[in-house]
Amino acid sequence: MNADEVVIREFERKDLDDVIAINRSCLPENYPPYFFLENYRNYPKAFLVAEKNGEIVGYIMCRVEYGFSHFSRKLVKRGHIISIAVIPRERRKGIGGKLMIKAMEAMKNHYSVSEYFLEVRVSNFPAINLYKKLGFQIVRVIPNYYLDGENAYLMAKKAIN
Ligand code: COA
Repeated sequence: MNADEVVIREFERKDLDDVIAINRSCLPENYPPYFFLENYRNYPKAFLVAEKNGEIVGYIMCRVEYGFSHFSRKLVKRGHIISIAVIPRERRKGIGGKLMIKAMEAMKNHYSVSEYFLEVRVSNFPAINLYKKLGFQIVRVIPNYYLDGENAYLMAKKAIN
């Protein structure tokens, strides 16, 4: 294997501290350890890390929810991307995109979701661009979604086209 190769693999319990450190340094939305472990227990196939030279450089954590489709009036299984981050020095190298694509594949193949959705700060242009590039569309604005009062875009994408 090329030493600089980025491997996307499923989260393991031993990765918890690294993932929490990345979450705290990259995002204002932080969670207690049990929240990460609960998502891992419930949806282990949809919690992935990016590893480079033995170092965790990014993660994506998702869960599966029943709810109304963002595209029709049906009740469906939706894959919810809860949190994604890549450490600053490894950004813009395609890692965030790979994490998203692998997590979406896993949610479709293992949990049979028919669509994906996420919330993102309206000011977070890098993330919004990433999601648009992957085919997500803005469904609506959620006012005051974040603790500091910022609005969120709810973005969604169909799993099956
Ligand atoms: N400005 C504009 N577009 C950007 C961007 C930036 N700084 N960073 C990523 N993008 C868009 C581009 O379209 C890019 O494609 P391109 O490089 O071919 O132009 C595409 O996203 C894919 O980028 P990629 O390299 O796969 O993403 P990444 O590894 O840099 O990770 C984030 C993207 C959002 C995960 C990363 O910026 C991050 O960790 N941000 C802080 C945490 C965060 O905001 N998470 C999202 C919360 S909803």
